[in-house]
Order: sequence, then structure tokens, then C-alpha cells
Amino acid sequence: MSKLKQLPQLTLALLKPDIVVNPTIRNQILHKIQSHPHSFTIVEQKDILWKLAQAKAFYKAHEGRFFFERLCGFMTSGKFTALILAREDAIHYWRQLIGPTHPCRARVVAPGTLRATYGLTDTRNSFHGSDSDDTAKREIKLFFPDFDIDEWRRNQNS
Ligand code: PPS
Repeated sequence: MSKLKQLPQLTLALLKPDIVVNPTIRNQILHKIQSHPHSFTIVEQKDILWKLAQAKAFYKAHEGRFFFERLCGFMTSGKFTALILAREDAIHYWRQLIGPTHPCRARVVAPGTLRATYGLTDTRNSFHGSDSDDTAKREIKLFFPDFDIDEWRRNQNS
């Protein structure tokens, strides 16, 4: 029986400032996510340094929560790397690879995930991943305004 090949999905990933500050670690991660068994394709990549207002806009849904100022302060403390990643079920597999939000918990329930390995604290948790297709589209547009998702899809189909 022939297996239908699934089309790749796109997700938006961030390597946060605690990763980007160390070029060796950053390169290790970029290599790991493109290699077997993870096999994401890096479609676009960009280093970004945010102003505080940009961080506050991105994390607006969390405004008022106890960690909001700390999170925005951390995300403006240095450059971070934004990636568009592709593979089948990219949103699910990237979030699975990075593991739970809090590194201490990740080390217990998901050892071997990226946050369990590299995350230092609840704030310095090293990675972000879009949580749905709609979020991925919005976040890709925000970080890569010139990237045309529909054109990319057409090219995958041809
Ligand atoms: S929740 O409760 O499900 O909305 O939280 P979650 O989606 O896991 O987290 C939303 C973003 O807030 C960050 N976060 C924190 N930062 C600092 N301190 C604490 N305690 C904390 N808890 C959550 C979390 O990393 C998410 O940001 P991203 O960029 O997606 O990692």
C-alpha cells in the first residue's frame, strides 16, 4: 500500500538571547534541528534586537501576568534568532523538541528536550514555538514581512 506523502508545515521558532549570546551553542542547535532525527528545513533565518515596545507587543496576551516585565526585559537583553522551520507537522514537532515551558519541569517530564538541556530559569528558557497554524502565520508575518507563505506553498506543490 502506498503511503501518501504529507506536505510540510511551517512554524516560527525563536532561539532566545540566552542561546544567541553563545555562538557555539547556537550553531550546535542550528545543526541539531536540521539533522536526523529532527530534520527541519530552515526556510528563513534572521537575528533581531528588539526595542521594549516590540517585546511588549509580541507578548501582549500575557500583559498583567507576574512575569510579563521580566519576560520582555529578557527578550530585549540581546539579539535573538528567528527561524521559519518546515517539515510535516512542524508546529507539533518543534514544540515537542523544545519541551515544556519551564526548564525545571522539562528536566523531570521531558529530559533530553532542548529546554531541559539548555534552559536555565522560567524566564531564560531558551526557545519559543508557535502554538497553532494561525499563530504561526501571524508570527511569520511579523518577523518576516517579505516572506510569502502562499507562494512557498505553491512551490512545494509544484
Ligand atoms: S501559559 O500559562 O500557557 O499561557 O504559558 P505559556 O504559553 O507556557 O507561556 C507564555 C509565554 O510566557 C513565558 N513564561 C514565562 N516567562 C517568565 N517567567 C515565567 N514564570 C513564565 N511563564 C511563562 C513563556 O516562556 C512563553 O513565552 P515563549 O516566548 O512562548 O516561550
